Amino acid sequence: MSENELTSGDFTEQNEPFTLFAAWLREAEATEPNDPNAVALATVDKDGLPNVRMVLLKGFDSQGFVFYTNFESQKGQEILSQKKAAMCFHWKSLRRQVRLRGLVDVVSDREADEYYKTRARGSRIGAWASKQSRPLEGRFALEKAVAEYTARYALGDIPRPPYWSGFRIRPLSIEFWHDRPFRLHDRVEFRREVPEGAWEKVRMYP
Ligand SMILES: Cc1cc2nc3c(=O)[nH]c(=O)nc-3n(C[C@H](O)[C@H](O)[C@H](O)COP(=O)(O)O)c2cc1C
Repeated sequence: MSENELTSGDFTEQNEPFTLFAAWLREAEATEPNDPNAVALATVDKDGLPNVRMVLLKGFDSQGFVFYTNFESQKGQEILSQKKAAMCFHWKSLRRQVRLRGLVDVVSDREADEYYKTRARGSRIGAWASKQSRPLEGRFALEKAVAEYTARYALGDIPRPPYWSGFRIRPLSIEFWHDRPFRLHDRVEFRREVPEGAWEKVRMYP
């Protein structure tokens, strides 16, 4: 089946969620004004209180959905302790939503290093300079930290900070939603008991 058939045909007939997600993301890349890979990331703290913020999806395949962050940030700490997270994409230009939830692994050092090397030099310095999610007394303190790390790494490679890496959500469920008239939307959820298990497909009322 061609990619066009996947996106223009009846998506509820699809049986493989990663292939369908790839087709929808590719279509969003063509139609969204910016950041088609932006996604809301939900975590939960030790008291069970949820937290949500945007991140950028930086990779995905049948293993899962990858994003990068500071592991000492609030989300980093919550994921490292709970090992669970959820994501929600909304592509306004396509009137589509994809939700997923699952268990979280840390990507390998090699995978994180490879991605880190592709980042702009300023972003690599920024990863060192930002104590993400901790109090900042003023903009000057951040600019000073940037200046210090810029001087420290003036020559040669900028190493990846030990606290900066990627998480991979291995989904236990992925739901595809597409707007239809009169709020009679199409919804299909793929579920499985364990990350490597077989998918069960369930259509749901909107
Ligand atoms: C469109 C968009 C993309 C973002 N992408 C990332 C990202 O990939 N990684 C990240 O750490 N923060 C990203 N942020 C910032 C986060 O939303 C958040 O402010 C920050 O990571 C701190 O979150 P925390 O305190 O819950 O850990 C992004 C923000 C926006 C609006």
